[in-house]
Amino acid sequence: MLEVRDLHAEYGGIKALRGVSLRVEAGEIVAVLGANGAGKSTLLNCISRVENASAGRISFMGKELPRRPHQVVRSGLVQVPEGRRIFTHLTVRENLMTGAYCRRDRRGIREDLERVYALFPRLKERAGQYGGHLSGGEQQMLAISRGIMARPSLMMLDEPSLGLAPIMVDQIFEILKEINRAGATILLVEQNARKALTLCSRAYIMSTGTMERSGTGAELLVDEALIRSYLGGGES
Ligand SMILES: Nc1ncnc2c1ncn2[C@@H]1O[C@H](COP(=O)(O)OP(=O)(O)O)[C@@H](O)[C@H]1O
Ligand SMILES: [Mg+2]
Repeated sequence: MLEVRDLHAEYGGIKALRGVSLRVEAGEIVAVLGANGAGKSTLLNCISRVENASAGRISFMGKELPRRPHQVVRSGLVQVPEGRRIFTHLTVRENLMTGAYCRRDRRGIREDLERVYALFPRLKERAGQYGGHLSGGEQQMLAISRGIMARPSLMMLDEPSLGLAPIMVDQIFEILKEINRAGATILLVEQNARKALTLCSRAYIMSTGTMERSGTGAELLVDEALIRSYLGGGES
């Protein structure tokens, strides 16, 4: 479904990606793990075309991925960015509708809004409130829901559990499972290694701009040395 080949990116003279390749098959949940600064966000931003790669190829659904961010969204690939970035001065409902900006199918949009409210009753309760008035966990739910509103075939999430209370983290991971069951493929960047490895079918380990290793979630999960050395303990 998604194939990234030999991607390079830099900021000024600093190389953030040095030839990164990855594949995601339809229906999978794939995790990208790695320490802070490894290049995980840069990788997702380059795939969604929010940042420019200096070299490399990306194909999606058997075609070369379009160059502009809105074309990428329209082709069915949506990113839920790091740090949530919801609109604080729009209501919850308005935030959700911004996720559907590329769509014209009014009935489908209405259905997806109902689906989001069923997944996150809290958002339904707070539909008329400003995004900025939500708690951190609720804002993350809103960011994910805004992604759902684009009806993506592939959803990429950048550290959705960052800074959330454990009970919220569990809820977010449950929701990811649910989104995947409903048909979307997921590419997930996470610092919470154990949780991500438990959820995913396969994972890639990034280290300073390169793919260090990959394997099934189950394989990597039992490799304590790997979890300790690359992922700094990986608390549950
Ligand atoms: N906007 C930027 N300007 C300069 N350097 C950046 C910028 N964003 C990221 N970097 C650098 O690129 C590298 C990879 O960063 P990032 O992709 O954010 O890593 P991760 O998401 O794995 O923590 C780091 O060395 C980081 O300092
Ligand atoms: Mg990051």
